[in-house]
Amino acid sequence: EKGGYEHFMLKEIFEQPRSILDCLRGRMIPEKGHLMMSGFFEYENKFAKANRILIVACGTSYHAGLVAEYLIEDLARVPVEVEYASEFRYRNPIINENDIVIAISQSGETADTLAAIELAKSKGATIFGICNVVGSSIARATDAGAYTHAGPEIGVASTKAFTAQVTVLTLIAMIMGRRRGTIETTKLNQLMVELESIPGKVEQALQLDEQIQKISAVFKDASSFLYLGRGYNFPVALEGALKLKEISYIHAEGYPAAEMKHGPIALIDEHMPVVVIATKDSSYEKIVSNVQEVRARKGKVIAVVTEGDNVIPSMADYVVEVPETNEHLMPLLSVIPLQLLSYHIAVMRGCNVDQPRNLAKSVTVE
Ligand code: F6R
Repeated sequence: EKGGYEHFMLKEIFEQPRSILDCLRGRMIPEKGHLMMSGFFEYENKFAKANRILIVACGTSYHAGLVAEYLIEDLARVPVEVEYASEFRYRNPIINENDIVIAISQSGETADTLAAIELAKSKGATIFGICNVVGSSIARATDAGAYTHAGPEIGVASTKAFTAQVTVLTLIAMIMGRRRGTIETTKLNQLMVELESIPGKVEQALQLDEQIQKISAVFKDASSFLYLGRGYNFPVALEGALKLKEISYIHAEGYPAAEMKHGPIALIDEHMPVVVIATKDSSYEKIVSNVQEVRARKGKVIAVVTEGDNVIPSMADYVVEVPETNEHLMPLLSVIPLQLLSYHIAVMRGCNVDQPRNLAKSVTVE
């Protein structure tokens, strides 16, 4: 059942080239300019006309929501707010019948997310669900939705569900951008072609496994990790830190790299591993300076870079290279080494990777 892998989590990490492909299947054919999602089709107009979009989710699904905020605002120019479902449901939020709420949930059973949906519904908002488990409570409670088609996720730490969520949200942002005329046809076509190449590039990123195992051995006894990223890689930093906390029980914090100087930089010394996601994108130059700031305080830098980069590797202690892609799609690649890093560290620490202490796959309590 684990397909020859030692744990479900590892199997699921390695399934990602296939699960992303399954998620794209029938929804995008770049050669034909075909881009469409059946569950989304009848709501395209409504989404295109929306004044704003609210995204509610928890945990890893919330991180996928943060990526979506950047994607939708950038490609479709519609304001997006992302909120933890647990906060949204208890704080008397402003919401009405013109709002569209996207609820993201792997299990489709998360109590806080379900309650947020019910609240938004009672105010007349339109609810769109992005779930992995077919027929789940959230899938049934929404007006419409799209499944992620990642297949059953057994490991408690979410991996392939995250990349599938980001894939669906990317398609939504692209469809919205096309409908609203906020994305040029050539750019849209280029993005489609690039998205189609992502499963192959994820496959390439998975070949980092052995290299990451070696890095894991160096840092497995660290008591704390910092994860830094900017732009599209900021939510990836949060996700990398969450993965490490969940399964290895090492304290970790994800931060937007520029926020470091407002506090967390005080933590950095020679004992602090700092994972910097520093791929070639519009914030690359800025993150180079952030790496220098960490180095100047003797922090140990583990950098995720774009293949062929020779600037960051000259400054970092450890470097892993992911293939080049459009910055909108980079989270799908840059998260892979972070999933593997948390997995190997947890295994080396003798932790129960698939069923970490105190956690459940579906959080059906508030
Ligand atoms: C992270 C993790 C949790 C879930 C969260 C939401 O690895 O497993 O943080 O992401 O409980 O769960 P879903 O997506 O099922 O609503």
